[in-house]
Amino acid sequence: MRTLTPSPDPVDLAEYYAYPPGGGTWLRANMVASLDGAAQRDERSGGLGNPADQELFLLLRGLADVVIVGAQTVRAEGYGPVRPRDSWGGVREGRPPVPPLAVVSRTLDLDFDAPLFTEAAVPTIVLATASADPARLRAAKERADVVIAGDDSLDFAAAVRELEARGLRRLLCEGGPGVLAQITAAGLLDELCLTLSPMLLAGHPARILNGPALPVPPGFRLGHALEEDDFLFLRYVRSR
Ligand SMILES: NC(=O)c1ccc[n+]([C@@H]2O[C@H](COP(=O)([O-])OP(=O)(O)OC[C@H]3O[C@@H](n4cnc5c(N)ncnc54)[C@H](OP(=O)(O)O)[C@@H]3O)[C@@H](O)[C@H]2O)c1
Repeated sequence: MRTLTPSPDPVDLAEYYAYPPGGGTWLRANMVASLDGAAQRDERSGGLGNPADQELFLLLRGLADVVIVGAQTVRAEGYGPVRPRDSWGGVREGRPPVPPLAVVSRTLDLDFDAPLFTEAAVPTIVLATASADPARLRAAKERADVVIAGDDSLDFAAAVRELEARGLRRLLCEGGPGVLAQITAAGLLDELCLTLSPMLLAGHPARILNGPALPVPPGFRLGHALEEDDFLFLRYVRSR
């Protein structure tokens, strides 16, 4: 065992969180959890973070080509479209001003008149299933770039291939736990960025993955560990 010796010097976050070079598809998830593993506080995740976590959340968006998120997180957190940030500096050079959101939904119970769809600088993508209600599907297609993958349940691997076909390879998943569990079960998760928040919550919130036990749990190696205000910012990369 060894200590992780803190250095007083701030780090260049864009460098620390750069996607691997080479241009291959890479799926990163960014989640926050309390010390006792809660991924929700009062049915949301906002109460778990701090300003540094928010800064990292925004930077990871800037680094990504697309942000995958479950419809329940969109509804719970009141998601709008991704907005460009001055703090991104040059990280989006040669790319559209923002990454689109790609919302996973079976019911398509989404407000297609909301800013998420009407004010997006790059059209929001909806990752839908073939069995979706035809009227909801028509409404989605009027306002969003709809990808159909799977019949009753989204085929996450097929959805990722469709994103790749659009040239979107630097993937960021912002959860929620239901979607992240399925992405992991499908063997698609390359990296987990986990903010460990110095609080204890108890109760019965979801953990960062909410789904059936994985028969073969993937292993991860520590990429780096950063600290600010007693929060830990852990980057774990899948061992292959
Ligand atoms: N701690 C964190 O870092 C973090 C991050 C994100 C979210 N959260 C919290 O987690 C909670 C939401 O997470 P969640 O796990 O309940 O929901 P979620 O993963 O955000 O979204 C679940 C929804 O995605 C769609 N979906 C999931 N699997 C599907 C499949 N196989 N095929 C088609 N559609 C599918 C369904 O949408 P429809 O219902 O539209 O069909 C489903 O209701 C919120 O409280 C949020 O604040 C925490």
